[in-house]
Amino acid sequence: MELDDLPGVGETTAEKLREGGFGTVEAIAVASAGDLKDAAGVGESAAEKIIEAARSSIKMGFMTGSEVLEKRRSMKKITTGSSHLNVLLGGGIETQAITEFFGEFGSGKTQLCHQLAVNVQMPEDSGGLGKNAIYIDTENTFRPERIIQMSEPLGLEEEITLDNLVVARAYNSDHQVLAVEKLNGMIKEKGIGLIVVDSLTSHFRSDYTGRGELAERQQKLNRHMHALLKLAEMHNLAVVVTNQVMARPDFFFGDPTAPIGGHVVGHASTFRIYLRKAKGGKRMARLIDSPNMPEGEALFAVMKEGVKD
Ligand code: GTP
Ligand code: MG
Repeated sequence: MELDDLPGVGETTAEKLREGGFGTVEAIAVASAGDLKDAAGVGESAAEKIIEAARSSIKMGFMTGSEVLEKRRSMKKITTGSSHLNVLLGGGIETQAITEFFGEFGSGKTQLCHQLAVNVQMPEDSGGLGKNAIYIDTENTFRPERIIQMSEPLGLEEEITLDNLVVARAYNSDHQVLAVEKLNGMIKEKGIGLIVVDSLTSHFRSDYTGRGELAERQQKLNRHMHALLKLAEMHNLAVVVTNQVMARPDFFFGDPTAPIGGHVVGHASTFRIYLRKAKGGKRMARLIDSPNMPEGEALFAVMKEGVKD
């Protein structure tokens, strides 16, 4: 629900509220009439009415523990192609969640995305979901040739694999946000089991360069990720996003790089996996953050046929 949808909130008031730091219905629901009055330039009783409307518009979604378990049981997993990586992830890439791969250039993020877009199409007893994929390509690195190379060893018809894949090029961060907002209808129609966003952050990084724009960028990124998570939960599908790393100016100990997007991306991702190049062309994956799996590492390889142990 948007601010303008609240009864008693016109376009101008919504704009003032946003500028005053009340960007969401939830923020209004927990505000005091006094704060809102000042921010929106409305009277006390109008402010109270807006707060009341915000409160009643929010569904809390209370569930019993058993209902949560029931929902978890409908969760499915997509094989990555590497059994080591699957073990690290507790079986594969989960539906109802966002999995983030981050790492430097050439660490294998895009290759993994291609592989998952193929694997999701395999039947459930072969580690897929028997469903299709949407690939949001922000860096123009989607390569149908790679999809063909990866499909062949799995016995999938390359033409069908390609036809079952919906590719959306996103030219800037707004375009990317819009692409996700437009997915809802397509997901059922095309039988989508996986949404890839490769890369999640590159446009946001280049579209918001000024220091003063950081807060706005983070807010937008946050909403974008929550839109993705909502799709994952509503349609029992997997979301996979990639993220680059940047040099840390405040670096003293440990890794001199950090994922872009800071806490916003970190908190919205259910699983975070750090990829780096290892010896002999191999790749090392490290599970950084997971709600139910221990941290650990897995070694895998990117080959012509795709992601393997
Ligand atoms: P950025 O998007 O630049 O941040 O990097 P990335 O992490 O997405 O890198 P990507 O997944 O594109 O990895 C590229 C690497 O995968 C190449 O450097 C190769 O090592 C490997 N690779 C890509 N295609 C092939 C292939 O056909 N055969 C083999 N053996 N390796 C490949
Ligand atoms: Mg890439």
